[in-house]
Amino acid sequence: MKILKLVIIAIAAIVVFGVLAVAGLVAFMGYVGTDTLSSRATDSQMLAPDGTVAGKALVVYNPGLSGNPETAAKLIAGDLRDKGYEVCLAGINSTAAADVSSYNVIVVGGPIYGGVVSSSVQSYLTTMVPPEGAVIGAFAIGNNYSEQPFPTEAGLKTSAVISQNRDMDSQCAGFTAKLLD
Ligand SMILES: Cc1cc2nc3c(=O)[nH]c(=O)nc-3n(C[C@H](O)[C@H](O)[C@H](O)COP(=O)(O)O)c2cc1C
Repeated sequence: MKILKLVIIAIAAIVVFGVLAVAGLVAFMGYVGTDTLSSRATDSQMLAPDGTVAGKALVVYNPGLSGNPETAAKLIAGDLRDKGYEVCLAGINSTAAADVSSYNVIVVGGPIYGGVVSSSVQSYLTTMVPPEGAVIGAFAIGNNYSEQPFPTEAGLKTSAVISQNRDMDSQCAGFTAKLLD
């Protein structure tokens, strides 16, 4: 009887350890994978508004493994263009993303893993030197269970965790409205 109990405890311990190891590996792979992919985000494009130009905006993204953060970045860039901004939509490792000096509005976003936005977004936010008076916003794409996945020193006017499971269009429109409010 005692031996049976010990065997059951040993099996349970192996199962728990296995589950934790797999979860840790997935988190690690996700975190590393998403930032490895971000190094390939080297494209950029310009979006010109109709009519009078309200200002210049830079929208920088880490595309993530799924591409959902890139989709959100495109929606936010489109919203800013519709509000009269000349927008540069730039992958986080593009040449365009490296120079923030001429923008009135700067938005940076990427995926969340383990409660924090991806490290490429964190370091972009904490190392960039925005021009005086620039409005800065950050977004993260996830399942919406993170409180504050952004570095606090980034001086953000607006930040949002945008859920990939809900209407991204309206969440991105809400983010842009708050940013320009
Ligand atoms: C290991 C792991 C950890 C995650 N942690 C969070 C989290 O803390 N908060 C959240 O909102 N979503 C979290 N998610 C969901 C991801 O952010 C979501 O799947 C997102 O789309 C990841 O982007 P990607 O697949 O484009 O890289 C996590 C997903 C995985 C696999």
